[in-house]
Amino acid sequence: MAAAVDSVNFLVAEISKSVETYQEALTILGAYFVCQKAVKTLVHFCEVTRVHFLPRLPLRKRDLVAEFGKWAVVTGSTDGIGKAYAQELASHGVNIILISRSQDKLRRVAKDIETNFKVLTKIIQADFSQGSDIYPDIERQLQGLQVGILVNNVGAMDIPQYFLNMKSDRLWQLININIGAATLMTKIILPQMVDRKRGVVVNISAAASIHPNPQLAVYHACKSYMDFFTRALQYEYKSKGVIFQSLMPSYVATKMTDFKDGPHQSSLMIPSACLYARHAVSTLGRSTQTTGYWPHTLLMWFMYQIPENLWMWSVSIINSALRRQVMNKRRRRASRVQTPS
Ligand SMILES: NC(=O)c1ccc[n+]([C@@H]2O[C@H](COP(=O)([O-])OP(=O)(O)OC[C@H]3O[C@@H](n4cnc5c(N)ncnc54)[C@H](OP(=O)(O)O)[C@@H]3O)[C@@H](O)[C@H]2O)c1
Repeated sequence: MAAAVDSVNFLVAEISKSVETYQEALTILGAYFVCQKAVKTLVHFCEVTRVHFLPRLPLRKRDLVAEFGKWAVVTGSTDGIGKAYAQELASHGVNIILISRSQDKLRRVAKDIETNFKVLTKIIQADFSQGSDIYPDIERQLQGLQVGILVNNVGAMDIPQYFLNMKSDRLWQLININIGAATLMTKIILPQMVDRKRGVVVNISAAASIHPNPQLAVYHACKSYMDFFTRALQYEYKSKGVIFQSLMPSYVATKMTDFKDGPHQSSLMIPSACLYARHAVSTLGRSTQTTGYWPHTLLMWFMYQIPENLWMWSVSIINSALRRQVMNKRRRRASRVQTPS
């Protein structure tokens, strides 16, 4: 009997010893993960401060001409982010080359920039949906101009829809606009930047493209391309003095995201193009990959935490709702045109 009690006591002692070791191991592991998380959060916080807040302190205005060069090229610059970005660069004294598809809008925006910011402008009319034929003419028109900043902004997004409902011609147009333009414009302008060992290329991607996006598959795949393309070129050309920036906005209140009837409202999370551009330009050359606007950086951090399946499921629902919203808007517009008051 005594032997049996002894062996039970022995067993309990052994088990509690190993539980203690187990608990200690778990405590160390837990402490390690907490420390790692804390360090990552601190680094993230410092990075957000460095990229988004320090450059916006009113110490002294940056001299972008001295940093990068006299001229900037902005594609898709007659509306939305491109137009606002061009205006913001002009407010720093940079001359602007506007490339977009509508001659009238180009003239209007150029005149506006010249009047308000006292800089030179040049306009080049080009429809980026047309593919490779347009680039020799763009290259010819850019000859002799010292381009220090290239903003590959042009982009087009259709209403959300299933892939097989899209026409092949339209797929080519989306590919030409969303990735062909940035790729070929970089090919045209990068050599002079490398020669001068100075310049910055900003490629506009999208925050939502960190995950696949059902019903906007081609658009978001193109935006992912922009991000990877930029980061790879940054690696290739950083030793040559050229900076690349992948700019990944979330929603900005522009024509592209105007799904509802009535005025397009901006808010903290959905800034106007002008507010967005002011923030984005302040991050120029400070980060290879950024949303350009601190509330979007917080949002992007949140997006990273969402498991991919949950993301795709919710995005599918949102995209279906957006599609209905746009279709209703178009129907209402068509009926207003048919029955003028
Ligand atoms: N708005 C957002 O929430 C958001 C979010 C993430 C990323 N982005 C990206 O940011 C960039 C700008 O978007 P946005 O919202 O400012 O767009 P937007 O308001 O629709 O403006 C697009 C600009 O590109 C021009 N453009 C369109 N198709 C063209 C073509 N085939 N050839 C030449 N020019 C063309 C437009 O010219 P017209 O004036 O003639 O139309 C306009 O100037 C895009 O790359 C977009 O993907 C936007």
